[in-house]
Amino acid sequence: MILPSFGYSTIEVEETDSGNACMQPKTTIWELEPHTAAKHEILRRYLQAWAPILSQGKFPHLAFVDGFAGPGRYSKGEDGSPIIALKAVVERPRQIAAKVDFHFIELDKGRSQHLTSEISALHLPSNVTTRVHSERSFQDAFPQIWESYAPRAGRSRPPTFVFIDPFGFKIPFSYVADILRAPSCEVLITFMFEEINRFLSQDLQPDNFDSLFGCPDWRNGIKIKLPSERVRFLHDLYQRQLMHAAGAKFVRSFAMRNERNTTDYFLFFATNHELGLKKMKEAMWRIDASGTYSFSDATDPNQIVLFSNGPDQQLLTRLILEKFVDVETTRGEIERFVVRSTPFRETHYRKVLQALEIADVLVPINPAAGRRRGTYADMDMRLRFRPKQSG
Ligand SMILES: C[S@@+](CC[C@H](N)C(=O)[O-])C[C@H]1O[C@@H](n2cnc3c(N)ncnc32)[C@H](O)[C@@H]1O
Repeated sequence: MILPSFGYSTIEVEETDSGNACMQPKTTIWELEPHTAAKHEILRRYLQAWAPILSQGKFPHLAFVDGFAGPGRYSKGEDGSPIIALKAVVERPRQIAAKVDFHFIELDKGRSQHLTSEISALHLPSNVTTRVHSERSFQDAFPQIWESYAPRAGRSRPPTFVFIDPFGFKIPFSYVADILRAPSCEVLITFMFEEINRFLSQDLQPDNFDSLFGCPDWRNGIKIKLPSERVRFLHDLYQRQLMHAAGAKFVRSFAMRNERNTTDYFLFFATNHELGLKKMKEAMWRIDASGTYSFSDATDPNQIVLFSNGPDQQLLTRLILEKFVDVETTRGEIERFVVRSTPFRETHYRKVLQALEIADVLVPINPAAGRRRGTYADMDMRLRFRPKQSG
């Protein structure tokens, strides 16, 4: 069966072991699509920050799991996610001290073999171990890997980053919840909503959907006929589940749009650490936007932000004022709000405060003696936003 392409170069429908019929290449390696390159850039940048931060944070041991690893290379020689992850950790000016275990799960035999030979061509330092879980499914291999790191007497679970990047949607929510309930463990998930949406319309795979969402509520989406509303419903349900059922403190989602300006997939990032959130946003704001794709923050429909356009000061001004107008606050609280509850970064809001102070909307309450207008050095500095005068 041939379907219109929306991302992958070979688009025949194939049954995987998991029973998902989904679009995927049949060859061992395939062409790298621009949006995959963008996703790789995000992964690379995030892991380049992740490993040294945790290692310097005195964690002696870290783990990385690529649940749908692929062959490690694309047809024009580009690195696949396992090689990107390895290089992000080992190709550094200074080696990190922590021991890092890499686990790569790949179901397909040819791709597993390809990946194994790609890894063996790398010169890896002695603090790095790799294991390809060949011809194993994520569903089957992940629980064993996870269990092997379970806290035991005198040993705590290493901080673990799990990248879940399937063609389809066989991602047991219970695994994701286990990851997020463990200290210092995080996930980055490709949420292929087109696949999900297609099968949801037909109500063909109730068990798979119960497993994916970790609840039966997806059934309410079947009756939503408008595609954009349906997508939003599915997105919001998954996001809610990550926060409420899995208990992740911070969840952000990113929409990948293609050259036809339609959304290909969402990336969900979930963590319990504000620094992780900051680093993921930094990676997002930095990706090269010159290609035929774009990422936008999709967490809140009222705050849709396209990273490639640079920070939208107007939107950030509106969000800050909506939150803080007429209440006394501190610079620290404003920064926390920006980082935790908006798509913007901790580096974006100072200009907004400056413009509001010039407009006499922002009034410092306890400025330090000799403070220059438009400077906000002290996190405890108290501030008030005056309501806009009408008329
Ligand atoms: C989207 S590709 C992964 C690409 C890779 N993460 C990258 O960015 O370079 C998905 C991979 O998952 C493999 N796969 C399919 N079903 C799987 C399963 N149930 N468990 C593990 N791997 C699976 C496919 O053979 C394919 O190589």
